[in-house]
Amino acid sequence: MSFDTAEPLHHPMATFYAEQVHSHILADDQQALRKYQRRIRAELERFGIAVDQLRDKTILDIGSGWQAIVFQQLGCRQVYHLDINSRHVKFLNRYCADNQIANIISEQADISLSLGSAKQIDLAFVAGVYHHLQDREGFIKNLLPNMAANSDILFRVYRAGTWSRWLTSALRVASADRLTPTQLLSAYRLLHPYGEDNQFVGDMIDDLLTPQWLAFHPREFIADAELLSLQCQCLSEPFAFDFSSQDENFRVKWHIADKNGFHNLLHPLTTGKAHIVDETNAPLEIAELHEQLLDLLANLNRHTERDAALVVVSLYFLVRKHTHIDAFNGQISHAPENPDLAAWRIEHLKKSLLHFRNWLNQ
Ligand SMILES: C[S@@+](CC[C@H](N)C(=O)[O-])C[C@H]1O[C@@H](n2cnc3c(N)ncnc32)[C@H](O)[C@@H]1O
Repeated sequence: MSFDTAEPLHHPMATFYAEQVHSHILADDQQALRKYQRRIRAELERFGIAVDQLRDKTILDIGSGWQAIVFQQLGCRQVYHLDINSRHVKFLNRYCADNQIANIISEQADISLSLGSAKQIDLAFVAGVYHHLQDREGFIKNLLPNMAANSDILFRVYRAGTWSRWLTSALRVASADRLTPTQLLSAYRLLHPYGEDNQFVGDMIDDLLTPQWLAFHPREFIADAELLSLQCQCLSEPFAFDFSSQDENFRVKWHIADKNGFHNLLHPLTTGKAHIVDETNAPLEIAELHEQLLDLLANLNRHTERDAALVVVSLYFLVRKHTHIDAFNGQISHAPENPDLAAWRIEHLKKSLLHFRNWLNQ
């Protein structure tokens, strides 16, 4: 994916993803296409939506543009693509021109303010976006009147109470308004000089520096669907905290049978409330660990940015998997998953906190 020149910086999100995240994750076009082909098929399958059902449908996609390309390849009649970042829009418009694609319309928009030309949408694919919106109610107010009767909105959103989102929300305290992508990259290269895992690096910069970050509980989407008189299908267990191998995202489908419930749009939405990760009902062990973690992270303010970045990136290695490289044997190897993952994670985070506290105090 190659990008054109930068646009005005009117919104912190307008120049973040293409420049800092997707430039790592989507550096190889063929790899990106295969990844999104797999992803969209998997997401549709989860909800039992057959690809054939999408023919003659109008789709709304938000993001890098690759999802729009895949929906077009799957035979959708019309695809609307929106993103706040003009580079994604320029990329997709150029891709469409190069490949003589006429049924994708890509426009730059802040979806909380406008949906551009998108209308009569049969399927809105809101994957990895809702938790980055400052004004979620604004988005829903724009979206619902533009949905067709008998249409669906698919959300994929960060799941509060999972290990990855719990740890990331804490780490952001020390990174989001202080560190830069370059500082995180330098720390990463120092800690892992054996070759970069682009997906890991992109996810790390995204998690630690994205201007807006939230995590939700499924009950909040269920409550909003009820308020709006929409049918709701939620693919997630109702746990408050589960630090085992739970996915950091959960999926929800809202079905719009008709448009009669929309008068409730004036009510505040549960998912519209500003909250990050609710720690109030955490089990004691998790609450204590959280406090120790926040202590260490707050303490980083008294240290240089280089040291802060080293600690944050070291801890980020506990957030997600990294392509494992055995430098001694020159091999890429894959370790089997630990059978008691939650206990292992908690134990290693505790050990790391102790180790970093001592290191910082030297
Ligand atoms: C994590 S990315 C991924 C999106 C999607 N899953 C993909 O891979 O294409 C989030 C995207 O949402 C876009 N975005 C964030 N806030 C937005 C807003 N208010 N309006 C429109 N796009 C927005 C970002 O520019 C970015 O491309």
